[in-house]
Amino acid sequence: MSIECRGVWKLYNDLMVIRDFSLKIDVGSCLAVVGPSGSGKTTLLRVLGLIDKPTRGDVFLDGEAVSSMVEKDLAELRWLKIGYSFQEPKLIPNLSVVENVLLPFFPRYKWFEIVNVKKKVIELLDMLGLEGLYKRKTRDLSTGQKKRVDLARALIKDSPILIADEPTVNLDRETARIVIEALKNNVEKGRTVIFSVTMDDELLKIANKMVKLEIGRHQIIK
Ligand SMILES: Nc1ncnc2c1ncn2[C@@H]1O[C@H](COP(=O)(O)OP(=O)(O)OP(=O)(O)O)[C@@H](O)[C@H]1O
Ligand SMILES: [Mg+2]
Repeated sequence: MSIECRGVWKLYNDLMVIRDFSLKIDVGSCLAVVGPSGSGKTTLLRVLGLIDKPTRGDVFLDGEAVSSMVEKDLAELRWLKIGYSFQEPKLIPNLSVVENVLLPFFPRYKWFEIVNVKKKVIELLDMLGLEGLYKRKTRDLSTGQKKRVDLARALIKDSPILIADEPTVNLDRETARIVIEALKNNVEKGRTVIFSVTMDDELLKIANKMVKLEIGRHQIIK
């Protein structure tokens, strides 16, 4: 699924973070959003992920403008098309790891359908090095473990668009490598992958497009 920004601006009161940003991200490509802390990476990802609306300009999914959609349709579109992993994991602390990864399916799936997905959750958790933690409450996880549970929840739907905000932050080299491999695998499956990164050259290697942000400025590198 392609995703495109046309003349996107994002301001918080009088702070201009994104200024007249236009870019088309084709199906199956991988975009890295890079820049120092505070440069607007999360802001741009949240606009691309249809979580926040741009102040001006529009986002298009497969050529369709999202600005005209009401919140209910946007929520449906996010559910159908986008897997989003947050910079700060958004987990429910007193639910288990497996329950948190299954959350996107409530209340849309019936219980027997959820049972079918559960096998896939386990495979995904194992792949991300979280075996043995299935039943642990997420409040009792380390920061890096929480980050991977949040990523697993973004991956579970096999969405055509995957957005990950600083996916390798707080991870050791080996665990970061596993996460990079998972993202790469999604690119190879033809999904559109977008991630932000402050400092991780290994992660940057999987991108075929890059946007460099500075506050209120951007540069499209390739
Ligand atoms: N909801 C908000 N309201 C007001 N200002 C905001 C809001 N969200 C972000 N900002 C400001 O916008 C700027 C860009 O923030 P953003 O979180 O997008 O940066 P970032 O590049 O993701 O930084 P980091 O690498 O630290 O995560 C910052 O100056 C931040 O303080
Ligand atoms: Mg950020």
